[in-house]
Amino acid sequence: MAFLELEQIDKSFGATRVLRDLNLEISEGEFTVLVGPSGCGKSTLLNLVAGLDTIDQGRIRIRGVEMNHVPPARRNIAMVFQSYALYPHLNVRRNMSFALEMQGKPRAERDAAVARVAAQLQLTDLLDRKPAKLSGGQRQRVAIGRALVRNPDVFLFDEPLSNLDAKLRVEMRTLIKRLHQELGTTTLYVTHDQVEAMSLADRIAVMHQGVLQQTGTPAEIYNRPANLFVAGFMGSPPMNLLRVKIAMREERLAACFTLGNGETAALTIKDETAALRALLDREVIMGLRPEAIGDAAHLPGQGFLPVLENLVEVVEPTGADTYLVTRMAGVEVLARARSTTLAQPGKPLRFSVDMSSALFFDPESGRLIS
Ligand SMILES: Nc1ncnc2c1ncn2[C@@H]1O[C@H](COP(=O)(O)OP(=O)(O)O)[C@@H](O)[C@H]1O
Ligand SMILES: [Mg+2]
Repeated sequence: MAFLELEQIDKSFGATRVLRDLNLEISEGEFTVLVGPSGCGKSTLLNLVAGLDTIDQGRIRIRGVEMNHVPPARRNIAMVFQSYALYPHLNVRRNMSFALEMQGKPRAERDAAVARVAAQLQLTDLLDRKPAKLSGGQRQRVAIGRALVRNPDVFLFDEPLSNLDAKLRVEMRTLIKRLHQELGTTTLYVTHDQVEAMSLADRIAVMHQGVLQQTGTPAEIYNRPANLFVAGFMGSPPMNLLRVKIAMREERLAACFTLGNGETAALTIKDETAALRALLDREVIMGLRPEAIGDAAHLPGQGFLPVLENLVEVVEPTGADTYLVTRMAGVEVLARARSTTLAQPGKPLRFSVDMSSALFFDPESGRLIS
């Protein structure tokens, strides 16, 4: 039995349907990240789980017990918001112990809980400060601490790192992951940042316009996105999507498209599925991650790693890797080369293409074919 169950959830604001027939199950101790673009309904869903808003249809259960009509305070859920939402007139200690005071917990128990969590979050030296005297990262740690002291059944996080600068965001990400490894509390974490989703999650649920697109482990979502939306949304830089024609070459299926110089490339497809064979002579969308296209000087072509020569338009070093912009099937394509690549803008380069990782999508429905 799932620990937290969302069953056929529907929610509208007026005539706007924000969540549609949403089903999600989270096992005990699991860290699930709900990811999707801004406005897709993530906060709405968290608010429903927390009981801050009422659902139109469907059921929310924790440990098999229906929560629909249980008031927020009795759900034993703790939520951390992007805006921190600390009490400005209370110091860090009182901010963290406030919920326990409300529950009527004795002083000694409150102090012990605050001391334990403050140590975990490196807040011990800040317990007497007011929020105004804290940095953004410290405030967010207090907001997390306030949730932790309650020892909840479920943690809900609503984009808790979005207000922090890039370096702090990475540090806090590690802290949150470390805390989850120690405490094992069932968590539903919401973000629009797919890198955050990949790095934190046991399981990812991708949402678009109020509809769940796919749930799976980070590897499943990354390697086998269920549709073009997930393929384009997850991964940074995103997957290259090329319109190709499926044709027969030397008794094997090949993906055919034009290169920058007008020549036609025909790349043999490794996994010939029945679904792909049925699309012979038709156009499909081929997905190739940037790391599947490289400088052939580093990845010699063989088998399903064909080589094709193509013009390099732009060279973008990032330190560890250098991204190369080239053009295939009429669109910009990003290749990931090593930083030692000799590629130069305006010059041709021999690219290798790892066809064993190529994915094919239906251009009409957007669904993964194989
Ligand atoms: N209280 C509300 N009244 C009307 N519309 C709302 C309300 N809350 C959210 N919405 C709308 O619902 C959609 C989803 O919002 P939200 O859940 O906040 O998205 P996200 O958190 O994914 O950015 C948006 O179009 C938003 O404008
Ligand atoms: Mg939101």
